[in-house]
Amino acid sequence: MSEDLAYEVLMDHYRNPHNYGSVKDFTHGITEYNPICGDTVHIEMHISNGIIDEIKFMGRGCSISQASASILTETVKGMPAAEAAAITDQDYLLKLGVSLGPAREKCALLSLNAMRKSLSAGGSSDGQ
Ligand code: FES
Repeated sequence: MSEDLAYEVLMDHYRNPHNYGSVKDFTHGITEYNPICGDTVHIEMHISNGIIDEIKFMGRGCSISQASASILTETVKGMPAAEAAAITDQDYLLKLGVSLGPAREKCALLSLNAMRKSLSAGGSSDGQ
């Protein structure tokens, strides 16, 4: 995919986020924020038999952070949790397919970091 097309895909996810909202009876939930700007992403997952069978997000922030969260939900829905937890920053940035500077990379990785943190914590980590 060309970088122009990848950017268009990103902006489409920002305008029309996929999997936005809450997961009924979620097993894993987390809110993560970018300390530099204060933007947030909240992720809820339902994991059953080691599979992420449902994942949704809510958030407030820049286009890259929110679009990236939408793409993440599409990427890991139906995936084994162990496989999702093993996605590296580099893997994910490559998947997004756009060149970002270091500050914007933090935006793009906010939701991935949140998901990995929630998976490694083994369940809800923000109050449920
Ligand atoms: Fe805050 Fe992008 S500017 S997450």
